[in-house]
Amino acid sequence: MTTGEPAIGHCRAAIEAGKHIVTSNKGPAALRYAELDALAKIKGVRFMIEGTVMAGTPVLNLARGPLAGCEIRSARGILNGTTNYILSEMESGAEYDDVLARAQELGYAEADPTGDVEGFDAMAKVVILANVVLGVPIGPADVERTGIAGITPEMIEEARIEKARWKLLGSVERGAEGIKASVAPGRVPLSHPLAGVMGATNALTFETDLLGDVTVVGPGAGKKETGFSILNDILEIHRDTEGGSR
Ligand code: HSE
Repeated sequence: MTTGEPAIGHCRAAIEAGKHIVTSNKGPAALRYAELDALAKIKGVRFMIEGTVMAGTPVLNLARGPLAGCEIRSARGILNGTTNYILSEMESGAEYDDVLARAQELGYAEADPTGDVEGFDAMAKVVILANVVLGVPIGPADVERTGIAGITPEMIEEARIEKARWKLLGSVERGAEGIKASVAPGRVPLSHPLAGVMGATNALTFETDLLGDVTVVGPGAGKKETGFSILNDILEIHRDTEGGSR
């Protein structure tokens, strides 16, 4: 998430060579989406990145396909599996270090898990949602970011007693003053739909003009779950370009 290299260079070279791209790598998507997508259009190929947000749970292809007739005004939800897993397990009394180690074993956490804990991973997903779903070319510097490092076991217990839960929430919305994008912990009441989203599960709500709110809940991390996004994108390309049957 610093330079996006060498992945950006690989994507550019492949597109120049007339190849479709299917990747779950967030670097090129968060740092160069507009450029790579425009280049792909010139070359008549696709730059497909479903797995960069909520693993194989279809959100980008949903927005671009079935929801294409709506204006999507905002996207917000729980976008990082590792931190949601950590917060869920800590509520059951588990130690932070043990839970983080388990999140790494299960393939949820990034190679450097500070990317999850400090909110950089969710920030990348907010940037991708802004670019792909809202069509606004923001970058990481445009997202206000706070991770979960400041959430203590005492705060989790206090929330539990008061019938609430801490969640790391990512959000991007069109407002009167332009685009507002953020990642920050929020205390949600147990009656709120996001409060029941536990473990590595993620949830994303699109606020639309014609349908109202559309919410997708599903796996947000994991090896098989992310691998599925690759299949999803390959099938999408096949349907678009080869006349494949649905
Ligand atoms: N580390 C990421 C997460 C993986 O925990 O959500 C999926 O992007």
